[in-house]
Amino acid sequence: GTTPIALCLNLHDLESAAKKVLTKRGWSYYSSASDDLLSHHGNLSDWSRITFRPRVLRNVKAVSMKCNLLGHQSNLPFFIAPAALARLGHPDGEICLARGASRFNIPYGVSTASSVSAEDLAACMQEQAAGGCLWFQLYVKKKESETRALIRRARALGFKALLITVDTPVVGKREEDDRHKAEEALAAGEATFARLGDNVALGEDFVLRGPFSSTLDWNDLAWMKEEWGDVGPICLKGIATAEDAKMASDLGFENIYLSNHGGRQLDSVSSSLRTLLEIRKFCPEVFDRCQVFVDGGCRRGSDVLKALCLGAKAVGFGRPFMYALSAYGTEGVLKAIQMISDELETTMRLLGVTDLSQLRPHMVNTRELDAL
Ligand code: FNR
Repeated sequence: GTTPIALCLNLHDLESAAKKVLTKRGWSYYSSASDDLLSHHGNLSDWSRITFRPRVLRNVKAVSMKCNLLGHQSNLPFFIAPAALARLGHPDGEICLARGASRFNIPYGVSTASSVSAEDLAACMQEQAAGGCLWFQLYVKKKESETRALIRRARALGFKALLITVDTPVVGKREEDDRHKAEEALAAGEATFARLGDNVALGEDFVLRGPFSSTLDWNDLAWMKEEWGDVGPICLKGIATAEDAKMASDLGFENIYLSNHGGRQLDSVSSSLRTLLEIRKFCPEVFDRCQVFVDGGCRRGSDVLKALCLGAKAVGFGRPFMYALSAYGTEGVLKAIQMISDELETTMRLLGVTDLSQLRPHMVNTRELDAL
């Protein structure tokens, strides 16, 4: 049965509620990660290794969480991370996310593999005529012409920023998905099924399965930049090391998004929180030159605040929003945003700050992660 939404007090409760209503395929797709889920579990647990250093006896009555994210004046320092196939969880799918982002005036990153069209989502934002903004997440296709067409379409629809996903030359090995597909194939009497990321021998050649470009390199970014033009910022999503953060910054990219794709691509890659610390240590100048975004395993307002203390501009939430919409549609998405916002506000007051601009690295203790 469905859990009454009033009984959901945090994002974990929304996840439990979603698990009860999702199909097996939907639950597998949203909750799974690659290989042994090491990165996914690391994402979830690393936040707890950082502690706060609160200051007391400060007047914290009035709190502002406003900030500028890729040119958008956002009410809150977090956003809906791009995730594909929201209609696996709810018939309205991504429309629920657009409504939520609009109502609370936060950004929503629409996936290339969205199950509602970019046109419908752009129209939905216009209809709502509230706040919020749409970013377009680009998966680079094998054919340059198709990629160019995607970029032109996002631009024409008025998307405010382009997030280019750079961690997906092939799709990671997500066994929970595969197990489900294998079971379906067996049930349908098919002898075999091919995984999206598998290399399949075709005559002499090995063809990399999966619809994405596995030749994408730093040089290709130039033509994507040119195709996107000057309609808004470009942000590289999926940076996982200080070296690549520095490379992006040296090449003139002003926005980077640290992410291990929710642990769904390379497994055993560190959490973006650790990457954030690595950048602080080896190339701190990146924070002066770039807006830095992070995601992965963030489940609390306090997690957002920890990332912000360490120099991130905002944090993305992936799975929590998929769970929220699966369990309760738009109402669930609104509730999830409200929860994170409330937690964030309370945590700011308890930490002794009233504005995001006051956040500093000394407000957190990172010793446990530094030692590693
Ligand atoms: C994703 N993610 C993702 N990223 C991307 O660039 N394009 C995409 O289409 C998708 N699709 C997608 C589907 C699902 C079901 C999940 C869970 C994730 C990755 C996503 O943007 C983000 O990096 C992670 O979800 C963040 O981790 P959490 O918040 O889910 O722990």
